[in-house]
Amino acid sequence: MNLNVLDGIKMRLCGPLVTDKHWSQAEIIQYWDERAVAYEVDYVKTDVRHEMLETICKNISLRGPAKILDVGTGTGRVALKLLEQGADVIASDFAYRMVSAAKELRDKRPLSIQDRLSLCVSDFSHLPFPDDSFDYVTACTSLHHIDTDQKRKAAQAFRRVLHPTGSLILADIMFFFDTSQWTMEEVRTKIQTTFFPLESLEDVKKRFLYEPEEWPEEAAFLATLLQAEGFSVVSVERLRDVVGVIVATMQS
Ligand SMILES: C[S@@+](CC[C@H](N)C(=O)[O-])C[C@H]1O[C@@H](n2cnc3c(N)ncnc32)[C@H](O)[C@@H]1O
Repeated sequence: MNLNVLDGIKMRLCGPLVTDKHWSQAEIIQYWDERAVAYEVDYVKTDVRHEMLETICKNISLRGPAKILDVGTGTGRVALKLLEQGADVIASDFAYRMVSAAKELRDKRPLSIQDRLSLCVSDFSHLPFPDDSFDYVTACTSLHHIDTDQKRKAAQAFRRVLHPTGSLILADIMFFFDTSQWTMEEVRTKIQTTFFPLESLEDVKKRFLYEPEEWPEEAAFLATLLQAEGFSVVSVERLRDVVGVIVATMQS
């Protein structure tokens, strides 16, 4: 197991804090369909989302032609940025309204590049693409709603569609501190204040999707999960206490 890339980061190997309850797929789709408009407002106001975007792009080589699948694309921010940088992108998400919002943003881009970004409504555990189709799969804050078993299935799906020389870039909520030192309320507040602009916080607290039962795992746990699914973890970059970016290749 290649854990040397994790040196210097304080982590424990452990699973989710509590694992007995998870949101159903229908609940998650409904939540995101309802958040499609507000998401764009939150997005442009929170630094962390831009930091994640920059970190994903920095890890993608666009020196040659690159075919990228952005899963859980939401309003397509990652996909659009990669499109503007010259990639061919498929942006997929299971929430139809999120995909529609992404389409609207794509249609505002120059006509000359629009056709290099396709949109697709699909669950990332059942990707409707042939094997070995992509140079990169990017997943930005889209995996944290699902439990460990589903994350394994998603990792297998990403592996199947990636070309043998391809890479997965996973940017998400992940812990870089010893969560046993924190109360659940402290962790929840940390995630909320990292991801939502202050003026949205009161509203967010009323309809906040994250319950302790579906909190994300620690960075080392996610890296180990990817390794168990045949990926080789190249780097784990910590952006905040609760945000990181993992780059993993298919090669050993
Ligand atoms: C926080 S948003 C992130 C959107 C975008 N990646 C970004 O960074 O701005 C999470 C997105 O993941 C999508 N999502 C969650 N689970 C999914 C699944 N199993 N299959 C496809 N999309 C999923 C949601 O519909 C939502 O649009």
